[in-house]
Amino acid sequence: MAEVVIVENAEAAGALVATEIVELIERRADAVLGLATGSTPLPVYQALRTQLAGRDVSQVRGFALDEYVGIDPAHPESYRSVITREVVEPLGLDPQRIHVPNGALATIQHAGDDYEAAIDAAGGVDLQILGIGTDGHIGFNEPGSSFASRTRVKTLTEQTREDNARFFDSIDDVPMHCITQGLGTILKARHLVLLAFGEGKAEAVAGAVEGPLTALLPGSAIQLHPHATIVVDEAAASRLALADYYRYTFANKPAWQGI
Ligand code: PGA
Repeated sequence: MAEVVIVENAEAAGALVATEIVELIERRADAVLGLATGSTPLPVYQALRTQLAGRDVSQVRGFALDEYVGIDPAHPESYRSVITREVVEPLGLDPQRIHVPNGALATIQHAGDDYEAAIDAAGGVDLQILGIGTDGHIGFNEPGSSFASRTRVKTLTEQTREDNARFFDSIDDVPMHCITQGLGTILKARHLVLLAFGEGKAEAVAGAVEGPLTALLPGSAIQLHPHATIVVDEAAASRLALADYYRYTFANKPAWQGI
């Protein structure tokens, strides 16, 4: 089963995951990181600013999960811009090694296949950071997504567009379509690290970790992965039936195991 780590707050989660990423980069200078956008991964990127300071990150590679279709890459809320602003620039990564799905309309019909080929050519993702939507999506794989899906165009749900309207002037400005790594793409990464904070995510987290495997809750796909780590605060953990067991397991985990 997935390992669930219940931490005090988002800052502690960020520090824990950043430590794992630093160790990965120490083992492998050209590690391939799977990068997520949204509010949830920001504490990880924040912690990495400190933990990676002074280290050589020139070989580190990265693949973002998703992008809006038809958005100008220079728009401040394109995921290309967000990844550049929140990850590439503050961490000093080489922008040439950081990939984001191409949402340009002119090439959208083969953009998914191109992205899959680029991930494969890099040897796959070592550690994939994930958030989870209130509707259970990971990446932009909305309910109904196939567990075998690859990078492709999806239609965003009304709920997701409402959730993301805070980044735009109005909900009308939130794009209708996205290009996202599929659940099958995400499951190929060697380590999944899903973070969630706050009561609003509690139901999605419980469904993903303990509920049935179901297309209705795409996050439940993580149960198929041999190495998935779920890092949540108390509020996001509040609907987990086995919360006490997860605390007990983590408290008694050998230090050498990492997450
Ligand atoms: P959030 O989004 O981190 O902004 O809550 C998570 C997601 O939609 O995957």
